[in-house]
Amino acid sequence: MKTSLLLLLASCVLLSYAGEVPADYVGSKKCKICHNKVKVGQQYDIWEKGPHAKSFETLKSEQAINIAKGLGIAEPPEKAAACLSCHVSGWSTASGYKLEVDPLDKKALKVNTDLARVGCESCHGPGSLYKSKKTMIGIANGELKGGDHGLINIVSETCTACHNSDSPTYKPFVFEERVKEIVHPTPTK
Ligand code: HEC
Ligand code: HEC
Ligand code: HEC
Ligand code: HEC
Repeated sequence: MKTSLLLLLASCVLLSYAGEVPADYVGSKKCKICHNKVKVGQQYDIWEKGPHAKSFETLKSEQAINIAKGLGIAEPPEKAAACLSCHVSGWSTASGYKLEVDPLDKKALKVNTDLARVGCESCHGPGSLYKSKKTMIGIANGELKGGDHGLINIVSETCTACHNSDSPTYKPFVFEERVKEIVHPTPTK
């Protein structure tokens, strides 16, 4: 009797844990298909010209190499977990979702070059459950709850998962100010 109760409790814990990790990362190029249309707001183009799309390239710069050396990191920054954690998708998000591919795995990085930077899903959450047109429109017109499909309600903490003093180049972060630099609204709003 006691054992079965414990088993029941254990499976409840496991089930609720599974419920917290429902979605996979699909990469920003999957979002591009729809979110590069003028009518929808060309969010992909705006993002690609913004700071987050170059976050992986930045790790290959002289500045990055010097920072890593200064911190006594042996690997090149683009291979160091201590740097990658905030410079790629899905590693250090406030949501606690974890990347399915290992960003240190060369093959995975090649296949998912898309995830090797701070992509759409770093802020909006992994897209496998919300990326279908039907779900997207349902969320946009309020018939579906984004949260039930992995779409994150973006708040200051979504950003400070990376914009914090663990960043070697940390600049104080005021959400209301910094968000203006990266906005990509839908045209009607
Ligand atoms: C099959 C097409 C399609 C794909 C793929 C797609 N979206 Fe969308 N998305 C839409 C449409 C259509 C809307 C509604 C736009 C509107 O209101 O005009 C939307 C709305 C949104 C919204 C606003 C939701 C709201 O609360 O109003 C966000 C955020 C979003 N998409 C992010 C993403 C991200 C990130 C990806 C990639 C993981 C993605 N979308 C992939 C079609 C798509
Ligand atoms: C997964 C980590 C991550 C998340 C989440 C994230 N950022 Fe960033 N952000 C970065 C990195 C890394 C850079 C530096 C990119 C570069 O220069 O290559 C950056 C750069 C920026 C910049 C330009 C450089 C600067 O600091 O002035 C702005 C503005 C910015 N982010 C705003 C935001 C906002 C607003 C949010 C939340 C809505 C956010 N970021 C979420 C990692 C992140
Ligand atoms: C805690 C998250 C985090 C970690 C870990 C991190 N970064 Fe960053 N990085 C950022 C953010 C956010 C920015 C945008 C500027 C800032 O810090 O506010 C950034 C910007 C940069 C920039 C551009 C600086 C500029 O002024 O434009 C370089 C270079 C850089 N990081 C290198 C590194 C290196 C090298 C490592 C590893 C030793 C590293 N980062 C680890 C979050 C991080
Ligand atoms: C650094 C974080 C960050 C990244 C990266 C990012 N977004 Fe957003 N996005 C936001 C914020 C903040 C908003 C403002 C509205 C909100 O809170 O959802 C937003 C809003 C949106 C909206 C809704 C616009 C509206 O008017 O309601 C869409 C659609 C969207 N993003 C799509 C994308 C797509 C597609 C990508 C990748 C190409 C992307 N975003 C990358 C932070 C981000």
